[in-house]
Amino acid sequence: MESENIKTTCETSGAPCAAEIHAHEFSSAEKELVRRLIHARRDIRQFRSDSIPADVLWRILEAAHAAPSVGFMQPWNFILIESAQIRRQIKESFDAVNSNEKLKLDGTPRSRLYNSLKLEGILESPLNIAVTCDHARNGSYVLGRAPMPQTAPYSVCLAIENLWLAARSEGVGVGWVSILDQAAVERILGLPEGVEMIAYLCIGYPVEFRPMPLLQEVGWKERERLQTLLFKDRWGTPAPLAPNSWHVQSPVPEGEV
Ligand SMILES: Cc1cc2nc3c(=O)[nH]c(=O)nc-3n(C[C@H](O)[C@H](O)[C@H](O)COP(=O)(O)O)c2cc1C
Repeated sequence: MESENIKTTCETSGAPCAAEIHAHEFSSAEKELVRRLIHARRDIRQFRSDSIPADVLWRILEAAHAAPSVGFMQPWNFILIESAQIRRQIKESFDAVNSNEKLKLDGTPRSRLYNSLKLEGILESPLNIAVTCDHARNGSYVLGRAPMPQTAPYSVCLAIENLWLAARSEGVGVGWVSILDQAAVERILGLPEGVEMIAYLCIGYPVEFRPMPLLQEVGWKERERLQTLLFKDRWGTPAPLAPNSWHVQSPVPEGEV
């Protein structure tokens, strides 16, 4: 009966059917596609003005909403900000905070490079999205959250990464702006007590998707070598892992745990 229902969904909607979505295996081509998508994602600061069609935006937000969350809490909200007036206020916050950041580098060799960087697209992008965490969602008990309350905002970050990747698959760029006064932005957006702003995003069609992070391209920072970040069993012990060298061991036999 179940499979009958699934079949009907496939035939009538034209969308990927449930059977396809829940298949246990991904083909090599699908795996390559995921890899390509992950590596092609970029933080975008320069946008074209064309707006994002509603169906595209919906798919992007639906991907965000499919993220994992502690105790299935789903603590996120997405505030879709078009208002020029609100955006101007947010931009003022950026300018103030960014001036402070510039002062910190004043007189250092990095000052000129920092000053040359474009670090937001608040006014140019057709849409801004504030992603929030409602710490009180689902009441006081959320399965698994109490020992590590930060897992609620971590869950929101996972939704943001989903959003970022889904946007990239649609040819839509996302830029995360953290050079802001969080309290000021929360006030501007009217967030109630217990709701925290996690991310302020600029979203729209980009001027370009660069092949590498801008900060890498301009010589600000290189990507760390993965191998140096891997430890085995305990902090500090290098993991002898290189591509194709690792075989996951079978689970520890009972009695040895
Ligand atoms: C939490 C977070 C905050 C960020 N804040 C800013 C920001 O304020 N301005 C900016 O230009 N980029 C910001 N970025 C983008 C990073 O600089 C960028 O992700 C990084 O340089 C790697 O580049 P890529 O995202 O294109 O791979 C932020 C990214 C994250 C994850």
